[in-house]
Amino acid sequence: MTTEVFIEVLDNCTGCNSCVEVCPRYLFSLENKKAVITNFDPCHDCGHCVAVCPVDAIIHKRLIIDSLDVDFPKVEKELNYKNTLSFIRQRRSIRYFNKKKVTNEQISQLIELGRFAPTGHNARKVAYTIVKEREQIEDILNEMILFFKELQKKVSSPLWTILAVLAGKRKSFNQIKRNMYRINSHVNHWDKGIDKVFHNASTLILIHAPKKTPAPVEDCNIAAQNILLGAPSLGLGGTFIGYLVHSWKRSKKIKEMLNLPNSHGLHACLAIGYPKNKFKRYVPRPEPKVEVWGEK
Ligand SMILES: Cc1cc2nc3c(=O)[nH]c(=O)nc-3n(C[C@H](O)[C@H](O)[C@H](O)COP(=O)(O)O)c2cc1C
Repeated sequence: MTTEVFIEVLDNCTGCNSCVEVCPRYLFSLENKKAVITNFDPCHDCGHCVAVCPVDAIIHKRLIIDSLDVDFPKVEKELNYKNTLSFIRQRRSIRYFNKKKVTNEQISQLIELGRFAPTGHNARKVAYTIVKEREQIEDILNEMILFFKELQKKVSSPLWTILAVLAGKRKSFNQIKRNMYRINSHVNHWDKGIDKVFHNASTLILIHAPKKTPAPVEDCNIAAQNILLGAPSLGLGGTFIGYLVHSWKRSKKIKEMLNLPNSHGLHACLAIGYPKNKFKRYVPRPEPKVEVWGEK
């Protein structure tokens, strides 16, 4: 279907030029004070033309637009800079959870938060695997601990050091070595039944995407951050679990166990649950280095 066929500009178009301005593919032009499609490059279905049109004059047949939510303009007014910054500063990685279970409805609501994240080229191929039983999480953890124990052996083996040097991977090998104290701590804790990897979370959200999409890593992590930002509004909290992503990449057994589609890469894992603690104040963060071009 060509762009012309699935996007229709209705007669009530006022020629305001908004669709011309916002379309990232430059599909529209104004002719006789009406928007028309003059460029037939592939539309990537971002929906901006429909969302910006003040008179609902654009019909995009591949997109079912949700009744342009009634509270949409209100949100814009309530989210001023001050409370947006405060909201962002209040976000914390949550690592202590109550036993209370996350409901299916909450999981759907969390995924809904991820659904509206930006994706490279508007690929929208981010997929989610939910691990809902603590037993299943512990199965994954057990496999990770086996993988960590193998890693411990390799790192302390002179042969592996030589192989890493020969393969030109000395730097990354040394980096792993430096970080082994954390892996050791995870192993030692789990040996005592204490879960410092998933923090006893009742739910995991694995976020993956086809390797062939333009920006799978970014897509998954931006969706993950949307979820983490929205989780407190449901009484929930969570944290990224980078350890699972790294282990999945390196362990065939963990790959088999998680059984994600072959064409997908795992790029984010979130441990989710009900936070045990309430944070009462912000935490300081260093001033970022900022370089400004073009100032006198
Ligand atoms: C890519 C990434 C991976 C992370 N992996 C882990 C992890 O495996 N375990 C964990 O407890 N926290 C993990 N974190 C959370 C960070 O440790 C956390 O953001 C940091 O301690 C600062 O705390 P804050 O998020 O509350 O500001 C990860 C964060 C990111 C962005």
